[in-house]
Amino acid sequence: MNENSEENENTKYDFEKHWNNAYQKSPITNLGWYEENPEPSMELIEVCNLPKEALIFNAGAGATTLIAQLLNEGYENIVVNDISSAALKELSNNLSLYKNAHINYIIDDLTNPSELLKLKNVDLWHDRAVLHFFTEQYQQNAYFDLLKKAIKPKGFVILAEFNLEGAKKCSGLDVFNYNEEMLQERLGSDFVLLKSFNYTYFQPSGNTREYVYTLFQKK
Ligand SMILES: C[S@@+](CC[C@H](N)C(=O)[O-])C[C@H]1O[C@@H](n2cnc3c(N)ncnc32)[C@H](O)[C@@H]1O
Repeated sequence: MNENSEENENTKYDFEKHWNNAYQKSPITNLGWYEENPEPSMELIEVCNLPKEALIFNAGAGATTLIAQLLNEGYENIVVNDISSAALKELSNNLSLYKNAHINYIIDDLTNPSELLKLKNVDLWHDRAVLHFFTEQYQQNAYFDLLKKAIKPKGFVILAEFNLEGAKKCSGLDVFNYNEEMLQERLGSDFVLLKSFNYTYFQPSGNTREYVYTLFQKK
């Protein structure tokens, strides 16, 4: 290792610590991305018309209410991931009422995956407000490589990120803004855009955040 790469290693930001801290310091209902009702995601999931046993993967799930909603709808094969163990602990506590739910929790880094490399045959990849935190090319490349390996033919991908008019920061971190063409370009011609819309999300504080929601299907 030369002097520069050693310096880069030492100055690498600790995202795991950042996100654990975010979930530990305030109740989830106060977080700037908390959704009481994940309506726009559910709208796109309905379009997919998946069987209840379909494998649904939620990337960077945090403590999202989407999982309870999916269980309410009868989906039974759900894998959730996050870099933050605190987030997934909170999620699992919140889902303790669903006694028979079979959920697979994977604590791993989407931009430097290990356990996630085993993920395959995914029918639906869902990401809300995660990809936009990956501001470096190497992070984005790792994320899209993982997605493309995990998703099965005819599988669906929902990406919901801050749009080009949207905020440039979230949770104190820089973000990389997207529109549907940029997401199409990253996914490549093997993926067909089925639906997209811009969506204004109201934070618990009352402030707004502008998202682009996209639904793609792999050929
Ligand atoms: C703004 S929150 C969104 C959480 C959830 N998707 C939602 O809609 O409520 C971003 C989430 O991405 C997770 N995250 C950030 N970087 C990650 C990474 N490299 N790998 C996996 N998860 C990550 C964070 O811990 C956090 O839960």
